[in-house]
Parts: sequence; C-alpha cells; structure tokens
Amino acid sequence: MCARKLKEGRPVPDDVKFAEVAAPNDLSALWMPFTNNRAFKQAPKLFAAAKDMHYVTPDGRRVLDATAGLWCVNAGHARPKIVAAIQRQAAELDYAPSFQLGHPLAFEVALRLRSQILPAGMDQVFFSNSGSEAADTALKIALAYQRAIGQGQRTRLIGRERAYHGVGFGGISVGGMGPNRRAYGPLLPGAGHIRATHDPAQAFTRGQPERGADLANDLERLVTVHGDTIAAVIVEPVAGSTGVLPPPKGYLERLRAICDAQGILLIFDEVITGFGRLGAATAAERFAVTPDIMVLAKGVTNAAVPMGATAVKAKIYDAVVDSAAPGIELFHGYTYSGHPLACAAALATLETYAEEDLFARARALEPRLEDAAHGLKGSPNVIDIRNLGLTAAIELAPRDGAVGARGAEVFTRCFEAGVLVRATADTIALSPPLIITEAQIGEAVETLGQAIAATA
Ligand SMILES: Cc1ncc(COP(=O)(O)O)c(C=O)c1O
Repeated sequence: MCARKLKEGRPVPDDVKFAEVAAPNDLSALWMPFTNNRAFKQAPKLFAAAKDMHYVTPDGRRVLDATAGLWCVNAGHARPKIVAAIQRQAAELDYAPSFQLGHPLAFEVALRLRSQILPAGMDQVFFSNSGSEAADTALKIALAYQRAIGQGQRTRLIGRERAYHGVGFGGISVGGMGPNRRAYGPLLPGAGHIRATHDPAQAFTRGQPERGADLANDLERLVTVHGDTIAAVIVEPVAGSTGVLPPPKGYLERLRAICDAQGILLIFDEVITGFGRLGAATAAERFAVTPDIMVLAKGVTNAAVPMGATAVKAKIYDAVVDSAAPGIELFHGYTYSGHPLACAAALATLETYAEEDLFARARALEPRLEDAAHGLKGSPNVIDIRNLGLTAAIELAPRDGAVGARGAEVFTRCFEAGVLVRATADTIALSPPLIITEAQIGEAVETLGQAIAATA
C-alpha cells in the first residue's frame, strides 16, 4: 500500500491509503451496465479510491462526488465505522443461510429500521440485495396480500410514466421508461400506468409544484376501466432517475385517499428518497403520507455492501402469514437476504446517520443547494431547474436529432474539471452525500455552470 501524490498538487487526505492501481489495458471482457460500452472503452473513466466527498482516479486526480455515487453513498465514502463493521463481520460470520435459519444481525437491522427509519405502523422488513429486487418483492407481496384477504382477482399492478423501479421484469413492467422496456417483450400482463407528474408549464419551480394534484385522479380513471382488479400502485415519491420530479403539492395525499377508497395498496419506491435524501428519514415522513409498502435500498448500507429492503404495514405481514397453511408462508427470498456483511454495514450506517444527524443536515442544506442550482437559470440551453431535499436537476434542451448528446458532453466536462454529476439524457442531476459542505455545493454548481456555458 502506498499513498499517492496528486497530479494537481492537492494532497489526498492523510488517512486515504490505496494500492497502486494500474489502469487495465484490456477492457473487452466486461459488458458494462447502462453504459455506452463502445464510447466508454474508447475513453474510460475509472475510479480507484474514495474518501468522504471525493473519488480518486487511477492517475491520482480528485473528483468531488456531487451524486453520492448513484444516489447511494449518503454518508460519504469509506466512513470509518462502516468500514470497521464490514471488516469485523467478514472475519466473524461471513455468511449464514437465510431460509429456515437466521443470524442475529438481520433481526437487529429490521428492528432498527422500524424504530429509526420507517413510519409508525410499518413493522416488518423483507431483505434482498438491490432496489430492483426490493421493488419486485414489493409487487409480489402486494399480490400475495390481496389473495390472502380474499381479493385474488386483484392482479393488476399500476406504475407511472417516467418511473424507474429497477430492472427486474416486475420493475420494468410498472416502470415508465421506454428504452428500459423496449427489448424485453410483453412484460407482466395487466400492468398499467398513470401519467407522469412533470409539467413544463411550471418550469423553474423551487420545490414542489403548486399545480397537478389532480393528476392522481388518473388512478380513478384506471379503476373505471379495470374495476376491482388492481392490486397496487407503485410510485417514486420524487422520481429520481428521470430527472428529479418532485410531486405536485397534494398529489401524494390524493393518491393515498384514492387507494384507501378503492382497496388498492400504495407502494412508495424510496430507493432514492430514503435515508435522508429529502431531509427526513423517508419521503413518507417528509410528506406525511404513509404507504402500505415501502421499497428501500442504496442508502441503507451507504452502498458499502449491496442490500435492498421491502417494508410493510403490520396488516400485510399478518394477513399473509396468518392465512397461510402450516409451513412456509411466502414462497420468495434470496440466498443473500439479510447477508451478514450487509447487515453489519446497515447497522453502522444507521448509527452514522444518527450520530451525525445527517438527515437534519440535508434539510438545513436544502436552501443552499436550491439557491445555487436555480442560479443557473439563464445559462445557455437550460430549460428547467428542479429541486427538493438534497437533490436538484438542471434540464438542458436536447440537440436536434441527438437527444442526450449535450447532457453527455456536460457530464464529461464536469468530470474532467473534477466534479461528478449525473446525466440522464439531457438532464443533469446533483444528489451529493449529506456530508457535503456549503463551499462544496458552490464548487459543484460553479463547475457545472462552466461546463454548461462551454457546451454548445
Ligand atoms: C427508485 C428506484 N427504484 C429502484 C432502483 C433499482 O435499484 P438497483 O439498481 O439497486 O437495483 C433504483 C435505482 O436507481 C431507483 O432509483
């Protein structure tokens, strides 16, 4: 192990030690996910180390992480408590089977989620390994619940346009991103979609748009078509991957009321919004709307070990478990459900969030990020800016016939200037770790502004 000098002369913090990492000279064997493989392999962008707010590239360049990785490293990188917990656990109990056997940490993490993160009444947690698995688990539990209460005709799953619920067949069936679905056939039968909440007429709104709560009535429209065959509706409280779309004021409340009136389960996919992103433990807490089922992942372990979690109201667990014949109640689970390393990481992560009061910190920083992001209004090609919690999106007009090209160029310019942002088509999203400083918010947005200004 050896510490490195940085090319730019800014030293890597003393406590960062990382092995000399040779950039690989043959990239051909890896098929990269959600990546333009051909372009990447021509001009690879690699990270070799990370600490707190920064990545370090193999050639020793520091990159400010303004996206918390993929919206997941909420407490910042390589936090000591989390690192130590994973190291300890790997030596103590590396793995325990999760079917008909258990280990103490999994029960402890579920209890900690119940007491520290979940809204009152959401009492049970089912573990998986990713947001995609947690979303598909939620959909399956919804179907199992409806069956358990004598509503077995309720088999339809409803999502929303512009939604992302991961890449399982359930998730892409209710997801609303065309390219993610196109190649994969008919998907789940009976899935439907309500309209997206984004309204270009309300561009440059700070926080939640004033108008649009009535878009939730789309669910009632589907009930008039499908009657009592809808099992559940799943939404991201704030759509993340399609460009930070905060819900119109009153929208989630209206959706909750319609679900209650119609016997439909409400699922919040909080894979991005959970664990402080909105300045509260969950979006449910921030908006004071409690779903029946909640999908969690990413920030649960600060991304240090993969983990997904599906939380349910007690009535759902009770109905499925109590109505089952003696034996296994839910025929579902993963070899790595509640993996010991993930559980150790989760406990240390939850402690870090609490000790450093990071959710409150995110809430306190929200106006800083909001002001900085909206300061880019008037920059070339900027057609909308949206924000909520510690997340913001700057939407650029696409080039004629080349959707995504401008966003990709801005992303690369930022990367080369030492700031990691996220580009989805032509929308640039910021979702920094909750430990970011005000000065670093300024640095990230200034760099982004310069990249936008330099991009035709
Ligand atoms: C809202 C939402 N749900 C599900 C997922 C899928 O998570 P994973 O990539 O861990 O499968 C994501 C990932 O970004 C997400 O944003």
